[in-house]
Amino acid sequence: MRSARSRAPSLALLFTALAALTAPAVPVLGQSVEPIRSTGGMVASQQWIASQVGADVLAAGGNAVDAAIATGFALAVTHPTAGNIGGGGFMVIRFPNGQTTAIDFREKAPLAAHPEMWLDENGAYSATMHHRGHLAVGVPGTVAGFDKAHRLYGRADWNDLVDPSVDLAADGFELSEALARSIGGFARRIEYEASKAAFTRNGTAYEPGDTWKQPDLARTLQRIRDARSDGFYRGETARLLAQEMQRGGGIITEEDLDRYEARERSPVTGTYRGYEVISMPPPSSGGVAIISMLNMLEAYDLRAMGHNSPEYIHHLAEAMRRAFRDRAAYLADADFADVPVQKLTSKEHAEWLRRSIDPERASVSHPSDVDSGYESPETTHYSVVDADGMAVSVTYTLESGYGSGIVVPGAGFLLNNEMGDFNAGPGLTNATGLIGTKPNLARPGQRMLSSMSPSILARDGKLFAVVGTPGGRTIINTTLQVILNLIDFDMNVQEAVNAPRIHHQWLPDRISIEEGGATDETVRRLEEMGHRVGVGGTQGSANSIAVDPATGERLGAPDPRSPDAGARGR
Ligand code: GLY
Repeated sequence: MRSARSRAPSLALLFTALAALTAPAVPVLGQSVEPIRSTGGMVASQQWIASQVGADVLAAGGNAVDAAIATGFALAVTHPTAGNIGGGGFMVIRFPNGQTTAIDFREKAPLAAHPEMWLDENGAYSATMHHRGHLAVGVPGTVAGFDKAHRLYGRADWNDLVDPSVDLAADGFELSEALARSIGGFARRIEYEASKAAFTRNGTAYEPGDTWKQPDLARTLQRIRDARSDGFYRGETARLLAQEMQRGGGIITEEDLDRYEARERSPVTGTYRGYEVISMPPPSSGGVAIISMLNMLEAYDLRAMGHNSPEYIHHLAEAMRRAFRDRAAYLADADFADVPVQKLTSKEHAEWLRRSIDPERASVSHPSDVDSGYESPETTHYSVVDADGMAVSVTYTLESGYGSGIVVPGAGFLLNNEMGDFNAGPGLTNATGLIGTKPNLARPGQRMLSSMSPSILARDGKLFAVVGTPGGRTIINTTLQVILNLIDFDMNVQEAVNAPRIHHQWLPDRISIEEGGATDETVRRLEEMGHRVGVGGTQGSANSIAVDPATGERLGAPDPRSPDAGARGR
């Protein structure tokens, strides 16, 4: 059966034209373009103002961890769909000497959480309770994560990392076309009073070019500046957050906040055609899945197949199908479940998976004992490299765009709805898309499974690239394809970011291809092979950085799919 194909005009192209007015040269999707060069450090993020904040920290002598923290706080002010202090995420670090580490600041389930918490009084699963409202909020991790990263590896003064964001929130900044439209849409659809107040001027929507001030958020950031994570997890901010939970029927208490801890973890690592791949371990599924897919694909001459040829897309989709089946079956917070990371990332396991790939025919996915649920595409990724070669890859999120939509009254920041990344409830797996397998059920203090994949590549002991993206489950596949574009197709980093992407996640059993990513003939051939195919839309925002092996320059590649994205060198 031929699937419906969206033929909507590419928003990315429209955004690119708009962005040219407000941000540094943003490339056109699919065209061959040059990245932004710097002989010093580089920051690439989804919001050029935040990239500038990070680059200023580098210019003042801060290292890549310092710049990543400052950029993260600035995104919480300037990119409210996903930038946050009320959410969580992951930071992967590679030091100039080649050593690596990762900071896990994923949200946690509150102490009162339990696997059946999204069943209503009749015992029926409620997607609304699971994904919306106060029960969907996880204990935030971002501020603890930034504090931990700074204590361990930063060298700048903490105040200098938070102050630029205090100023951006207090004095305001000029709204771009895209951001004015986005916050206007959010303010129209949200019902919480404090949220409407934070995102409008006395109830009236902001216009592009208006200055947007966030005084409550500025005061919260001041408390974080003055008391580090205690300014968030204790005292006034914690009290306001717990008060809003009580008001709205949520379960996060001041004790939950007080007990939150970010964790330092060993990254998951693999190799691909001589490159070292460093990525996020559980509770993210991203690193494991990417390494597993690279291991499967290493046996093929992808370049000879041709970029986005039917043969290439078929082999990618088959590798994706298998990695996502493993993801559903095994992956969760490794502090709570036994996750066979070594096995899943081994060349032997990939060889075993690859043996079942038919070069001519699509396999068929069965919901059997596992199935997939919904994961929001609204997350954000940024990359940082400093002059010494320290590299930091950060992906963090509120889950949905604007998270739960709940702004903490008096504190001015949005809360996540990350509890939706836990499975629905025990035994609830069914063919409609619910998943109820054990490892990723909500338990007190457990972190929900993520797809976020902040990653770093190295070759011959030298930094090669920093990559990652938002996009829910598509994160894993977008990051994979940026890596393949760099390594197999010798694209420069901007071309690698721009090139159209595909996605397959086991279930639903379907290949999605970005608008312009495949010819009609390619789609017809894939359908002949037995694939269901949809074409349309855009996938991810992979703001990346590579290092020019010849000159050592940092090459910044903002993603043209994001209208306000920007890379800034220093
Ligand atoms: N909420 C998106 C993710 O963690 O992958």
